[in-house]
Amino acid sequence: MKALNHRELVEVLFSSCYMAIISLGMITILGYGGYQVFTGVLTIGMVAFYSYMGRLFDPLRAAVDIYSQLNRLGTNIRRILEVTEMAPSVPELPDAVDFPTRIRGYVEMDNVCFSYKSAESVLDGIHLKLGPGEKIALVGMSGSGKSTIAKLIARLYDVNGGAVCIDGIDVRNIRLGSLRTKVCYLLQDAVIFDRTVKENLLLGNPSATTTELQRAVEIADLTELVRRLPQGLDTPVGPRGNVLSGGERQRLALARAVLQNPSILLLDESTSALDAPSERRVLMNLAQQFSHQTIVFVSHRISALKWVDRIIVLNRGVIEQQGTHDQLIHRGGLYNHLHSVPAVLTSTQDAPQAPREI
Ligand SMILES: Nc1ncnc2c1ncn2[C@@H]1O[C@H](COP(=O)(O)OP(=O)(O)O)[C@@H](O)[C@H]1O
Ligand SMILES: [Mg+2]
Repeated sequence: MKALNHRELVEVLFSSCYMAIISLGMITILGYGGYQVFTGVLTIGMVAFYSYMGRLFDPLRAAVDIYSQLNRLGTNIRRILEVTEMAPSVPELPDAVDFPTRIRGYVEMDNVCFSYKSAESVLDGIHLKLGPGEKIALVGMSGSGKSTIAKLIARLYDVNGGAVCIDGIDVRNIRLGSLRTKVCYLLQDAVIFDRTVKENLLLGNPSATTTELQRAVEIADLTELVRRLPQGLDTPVGPRGNVLSGGERQRLALARAVLQNPSILLLDESTSALDAPSERRVLMNLAQQFSHQTIVFVSHRISALKWVDRIIVLNRGVIEQQGTHDQLIHRGGLYNHLHSVPAVLTSTQDAPQAPREI
């Protein structure tokens, strides 16, 4: 705001000085010239001179406009460079490799230990293998490390111990650009830009065809919304997508991820704003359409995820249980507790601990 105010001030001063100079010039020419015509020193040809002066001022005015536009452009470019030149939070090795065009989506976390900047350990010796095309759900109380696992698979952070491998390659040895196209991490807060619905979608795949767009819209359950919007796919969604509801924004981000067609999709509470039956329907439909892709679902609504291939139950950074919904219910323990008292899933880490084993 300060910079903006300063720029406006400079522009106003600049153009008022310029206007003042022009006006004074005109007054002088007309006043003194007129007097000279009266006294007979000059002829009426002075009027022609005056109109030529006008032609001289026009390019001057254009130059002032161009100067101020260049100024704005310079500021914008500086801001873009600030972002593009920002060092990534994880370094790219000089000999990092690209993924092959097709990957299977086999994820392996081998004895992964992790903590954020503070010394407190967040993940403690995680062993997890996700088969190609497997659909798994991470459940556990708030703060148990679900998001952290998803972020480590996407390599938004580097592990402190152990390794995360995709198709047998350590993620630290993969070029970040290649990793980001194959592994898609979707947050709860959908990132939506002040463009049209279609432009937001195409960020997932700029060369997507109309059929592919249509399919993504259907999978994300957006067909009804697109039909309702005044200009359909070409409707602007406003800053941060504020024309849309929270659930619509989340589904738009999901459709964008579908268009990107990653091999590994990590959905971190990314359909939380939908009502429970819609969430279940959208996720099941997605799993069906993405049968070859590996998908990790994180949701505090266990009811939306009972159908997945495997449920991983986390407790304070360790895997406490895993299995299908039926197996886990049968076994009792933490999962059974979370399932029967869903409120604990949204409580903070300070909430009373669930019984470790019944
Ligand atoms: N960016 C961060 N910086 C420091 N600590 C974090 C950060 N993100 C998460 N944590 C901590 O790590 C633990 C696990 O968090 P998270 O993986 O987000 O849990 P969940 O997704 O299961 O709710 C929590 O104790 C949380 O406070
Ligand atoms: Mg989380």
